[in-house]
Parts: sequence; structure tokens; C-alpha cells
Amino acid sequence: MAKVISFSNQKGGVGKTTSCVNISAQIANKGKKVLMIDMDPQGNATSGLGLQKSKIKNTTYDVIIGRCDISEAIIKTRFKNLSVVPANISLAGAEIELQELDENLNFTKIALDSVKDNYDYIFIDCPPSLGMLTVKALSVSDGVVIPMQCEFYSLEGMSQLLNTVKKIKSLYNPSLQLVGILLTMYNGRLTLTGQVVAELKKYYADKLFKVPISRTVRISEAPGYGEPICYHDPYGKGSLEYAAVAKELMLRI
Ligand SMILES: Nc1ncnc2c1ncn2[C@@H]1O[C@H](COP(=O)(O)OP(=O)(O)O)[C@@H](O)[C@H]1O
Ligand SMILES: [Mg+2]
Repeated sequence: MAKVISFSNQKGGVGKTTSCVNISAQIANKGKKVLMIDMDPQGNATSGLGLQKSKIKNTTYDVIIGRCDISEAIIKTRFKNLSVVPANISLAGAEIELQELDENLNFTKIALDSVKDNYDYIFIDCPPSLGMLTVKALSVSDGVVIPMQCEFYSLEGMSQLLNTVKKIKSLYNPSLQLVGILLTMYNGRLTLTGQVVAELKKYYADKLFKVPISRTVRISEAPGYGEPICYHDPYGKGSLEYAAVAKELMLRI
């Protein structure tokens, strides 16, 4: 049965999508069957895997409002063992509509349960908010990975995010666990980086992934080619770092 893991942080631009896409592709390339679910109306994870958002028929939106079966929304990518449920801007309406739907009709959970036997891992790319879509994603996840940048405001956001995780755990999903905190766009030469890492270690030492993801041009240009980094630049630094994180993630959950 697949483990379900969300990549979440209410801050935008911290590397959620980049990490979700690259870890999904890395683990799939190593032989595990992976489904990536794009839960962000921006659809960055969808285009990052080379799919054209405008040409997609069924999306995450259609699945979570119960308009189509998840099997009708899953697309096999051109990458080994990697399938995706794509998203586009239609998902933006879901934040409002979901509140109106009967809460007992939990289409997301039903949908995931129906395909869990077909995959080893299901990774969900969350939007940059703690709204309904994120709550939904965390409610159906076994674990959450929190990508973050080494900046002062990231520390402030972290306690708010961890409180939300705690709340969801007690209200909807007792088995939700914090898989790890992943440092992204890392530059060890900056003084601030050292300060933030020291602060993080004080409180979350056992939760930090051992290897941070460096800021590299190759990682940022890969989505423009519709390719995960393990295909775009297989022997580069970014690829090796994401491979190390993927390995550690599989050991953690
Ligand atoms: N390790 C990295 N090195 C360089 N650029 C990165 C790295 N990780 C992410 N980026 C870039 O930073 C921006 C934000 O990343 P993204 O993954 O979209 O964040 P989020 O999903 O949290 O909004 C994107 O333009 C992305 O290409
Ligand atoms: Mg994103």
C-alpha cells in the first residue's frame, strides 16, 4: 500500500514544487511506483513534468469534487514509473466549493484509497496556504515534508505550520507524521544561513534532513525543459542532493 506524503509550507517560493517533482521522479527512477498529485491551482508541478496545463481534460479539481474517478485523471508521464494527477487554475474554485460540499463526502480520501494498491508512494504538492486544499491533503497523508529556505521569516512560519499539522492530527488524521524539514536553495557561505540552521537545530534537530538542497541554476532551469533534475542533469549537484534526500525519506517513512 502506498505511503502518502504531502509537501507543504504556507509560504510561497520555498521549493515545495521543486522538491515534490524531483523527489517523486528520483524515487520512481529507482524502481518504485509513484503517483504525484498536483494540489496547487498554479499547476507548476504539472508543467514541471512537461505536461501542458491547457490541454488536460481531468484534473485534481474534478477528482476532489467527485466529478470524475481518479483513474480517469491519472496521466502516465514520459518518466519511468511516474504518473501524475495534474492541476490547473480550475482548482482555485475548490477552496470555496469544498466548504459547501457535504463534509461526509470525502472524495479525496475515497479516490486515494482506490489507487493506493497500485503505487509505493503518492506525493502531494500543496499550494502556498493553509486553506482547504492543504487541510485536505494533510488529512489524507501519512506524512508531511516541509521544504524551507534559510531565512528569518521561515522560522516564524514554521511554528504556525507545525501548529496546523498538530491540529489536523488531532481533528482528522491521528497517523499524520512530520517526516522531515528540508532546507532548500541552501547557501552555506551566508552568515544568515548558519544562524537559521543553528536555530532550527535547537528545536527540530532530529527532523532536519541530513543533506540540504543547494541553490543551483540547473535545478531552477529544469522545469523549463519539463524535466526533473535526475533526467535534466543526472550527475549534477542538485540531482545528487535530491537523491540523498529521497533515500533518507524512504528510510523515515
Ligand atoms: N535548489 C534550487 N536552486 C535554485 N532555484 C530553485 C531551487 N529550488 C527551487 N528553486 C526555484 O525557486 C522558485 C520557487 O520554487 P518552487 O519549488 O516553485 O516553490 P514553491 O512550490 O514552494 O512555491 C522556482 O523558480 C524554482 O525554480
Ligand atoms: Mg509550488
